[in-house]
Amino acid sequence: MAGNAVGLGNFLRFPRQAAANGGGSFMVPYFIALLVIGIPLMWIEWGIGRNGGRYRKGHFPGMVAAIWKHPAAKYVGVVGMVIPLAVMIYYTYLESWTAAFALFSITKDYWGITTQEGMIGYLRSFQAIHADGATVYHSTWTPYLFYAGTLALNIWVLSKGISGGIEKLAKIGMPILFLFALVLAGVVLFMPEQVGIGTNPISDGLAFLYTPDFSKLSQAGVWLAAAGQIFFTLSVGMGSLQAYASYLSTKDDIVLNGIATSATNETAEVVLGGSIAIPAAVTFFGVSGAMAIAQGGSFDLGFATMPVVFQQIDKTIPIGPILGFMWFGLLFFAGITSSVSMLTPIVAFFREEFGVKRETVAWVLGGVCLVFGMMHVHWLRHGFLDEWDYWAGTFGLVLVAVVETIVFMWIFKPDEAWKSMHMGADIRIPGIFKFIMTYITPLYLFVLLGWWGATEALPILFNERSAGGSAPVDDVSWPYVAASRSILILFFVVFAVLVRIAWKRNKYDDRKGFVELSTNRAEA
Ligand code: ALA
Repeated sequence: MAGNAVGLGNFLRFPRQAAANGGGSFMVPYFIALLVIGIPLMWIEWGIGRNGGRYRKGHFPGMVAAIWKHPAAKYVGVVGMVIPLAVMIYYTYLESWTAAFALFSITKDYWGITTQEGMIGYLRSFQAIHADGATVYHSTWTPYLFYAGTLALNIWVLSKGISGGIEKLAKIGMPILFLFALVLAGVVLFMPEQVGIGTNPISDGLAFLYTPDFSKLSQAGVWLAAAGQIFFTLSVGMGSLQAYASYLSTKDDIVLNGIATSATNETAEVVLGGSIAIPAAVTFFGVSGAMAIAQGGSFDLGFATMPVVFQQIDKTIPIGPILGFMWFGLLFFAGITSSVSMLTPIVAFFREEFGVKRETVAWVLGGVCLVFGMMHVHWLRHGFLDEWDYWAGTFGLVLVAVVETIVFMWIFKPDEAWKSMHMGADIRIPGIFKFIMTYITPLYLFVLLGWWGATEALPILFNERSAGGSAPVDDVSWPYVAASRSILILFFVVFAVLVRIAWKRNKYDDRKGFVELSTNRAEA
């Protein structure tokens, strides 16, 4: 579960969001969102997932229908299949960049490009979206090969199952990523001040992150960004934590483990994620420089700034390539232990409802991901990925969260939900959370949806601005954006049809629900 939560979001997205939203002023709404939506949703997802498992349902439509005995339930649950599939497809593409840059670090491929502008050019060349006439460092095929390789590795792990593949990967990947992160944080925090810059990684870098600026709290955008980060980083609203939880028995604890997962993720994010990229950028480029970089683009901080920093450090102590390898290696392990979770609800769906073998589903899904993933690689410059990152990776997560909160806390009823979450529990959830989860969490989610709808979703939908920036999408890119959205709609339709076929095939009675398993559900 912690492998699922700790991901690229902790080390790339968090520093960027924090810096772009004013550092300390971001942390206040961030921690409020953690308490009011993050932790409650974590428990709700473990709860709804384990409850689904009692009926052998590891997929969201089944989990919703196990509680809400209504013909519409299964279709409402389709959102919990579309989101993880979409996020998986573009997330593995981002993950493949980290694999490539780990290699480029150790081979010193970018060595000598010592400015951020230069590194941005290098990144664009790798992404095959460089401007005409710019220096080309890579073959056009490079990003496709890295994507295909990264995806294949993910699918191979997935095909081995949760305990046979994912758990084994997490047991190797998680210690490595924590070790790399600790070493990097240590190196960064003890860096000396740079001549001409005069900022210190601790007294300026960390202070930037931890000194709250209450005046910024009136800005709606900061609250939305903080809530969006909590969703993404904890993997709530993605359908995958629920799928993992469906394999737990009623004797297993989910309360303490749910909070332990959140705590592990927050340690990785705030303590470690917050101690690497931001302090490094502040030390070498000053506070305003770091903020400007973060505003510049989602990945500039991680892929352009950090390689420049490693080359600077290399001038004093010759460990730059190793640090670069550790940074991108850490991102890769964080990424892959998350991405392998994302197809688990869909694998569960085909195994449970159609009796298809796990290996078969995994590799067929891999093929599907490859086809749509290649579109992301090919049309990155047209904002294809930004669309999915917004509609699936930001807005969609809240939709799934709304569905599960209403179903679990209102339709199942708070007392039932409470009882269900506490089966096998090692500790009790403080009583106040019953109130929070029943009223405050849904209220917060509705406000978020409404606010997001008005300030972002509608303007993006009607192209008053693009999903990845402030200017509208231009005429050249518009067809690609339209295609990107159409594919998401297509996913909805296909999954809704598959759900319908599955329910007919297995003769489920919507009003009666499913038959409870007599023995504990085993993964096999
Ligand atoms: N929770 C995962 C991350 O932070 C998806 O990247």
